[in-house]
Amino acid sequence: MKILASRRFPGPAWDELDDVEYLPGALPRGVGARRTDVEALAVVGERVDDETLDLLPSLRIVANYGVGHDSVDVRALTARGVPLTNTPGVLTAATADLAFALVLAVRRRVVTGDRAVREGRWRGGWADSDFLGRDVSGSTIGIVGLGRIGRAVAHRAEAFDMKVLHSSRVRDAEGWRELDELLAEADVVSLHVPLTDETRNLLDARRLALLRDGACLVNTARGQIVDETALVRELVSGRIEAGLDVFAHEPAVPHELVGLPNVVLTPHIGSATTETREAMTRVLVDNLLAAARGETPPNLVYPAAEAP
Ligand code: 8YV
Repeated sequence: MKILASRRFPGPAWDELDDVEYLPGALPRGVGARRTDVEALAVVGERVDDETLDLLPSLRIVANYGVGHDSVDVRALTARGVPLTNTPGVLTAATADLAFALVLAVRRRVVTGDRAVREGRWRGGWADSDFLGRDVSGSTIGIVGLGRIGRAVAHRAEAFDMKVLHSSRVRDAEGWRELDELLAEADVVSLHVPLTDETRNLLDARRLALLRDGACLVNTARGQIVDETALVRELVSGRIEAGLDVFAHEPAVPHELVGLPNVVLTPHIGSATTETREAMTRVLVDNLLAAARGETPPNLVYPAAEAP
């Protein structure tokens, strides 16, 4: 099975594939002319749409490196009967860890403090209000989306003696709140829903305004889940604080955020550990190998439960 890959994925599992060609440029242009020999496409966050699929008429699988697959146009795949796979599970802990790192960094002024020490602005003493954070332990976290990653964040929050609220499809579970209620009640809000038509701009200006004064918004999911312009307004006003790993137009970060003390910014590193990235490659390769054997790949997102 000829595989077209946007890059060499990290770790030893990648070497189990024997017929890989690397895209020399971005999709769809990187494909060049129409290719009838290519049966698999391995991508990481690149846009896959009608234009690319028209160039690859023999495609039998699109394998996405990552759990979120919003960059792939599922409608275009559906129209052609091309299955899509992702790499769930193996990045749950790493992403939940990063969400929690952002909670701690924002609430306890870790980055502000680090910067001050490096820049020689630490004058000793203990009363500098710039370094005065807010308790994590004993505070209330509202988790939006209680899937694998949301549950892993809840687990970490419980260990920190936080009160855990969630807004998810499991309405009757303990701590469930309507989204608006959750936003108004939590000290920390962490987003863990996938980006879909329903969740795009889920936190719009009205909902952001529901956050309590001083609340901390953590986003390790997708930037487009939040109205970024409205978020920037709230952060510039200093009313709320945030830990942001994802942005609406990556790698662009709204310039207004760069100088703000009430926001910690990281470059989409939720899954970025050596172990997790290698495990993601293992899952990606297993999906490709199953498709090559004519079997149902283990992590089919579309179609839900059919053979390729
Ligand atoms: C990145 C992610 O896609 O899995 C996801 O949905 O956002 C991440 O894992 C991946 O790490 C490449 O940047």
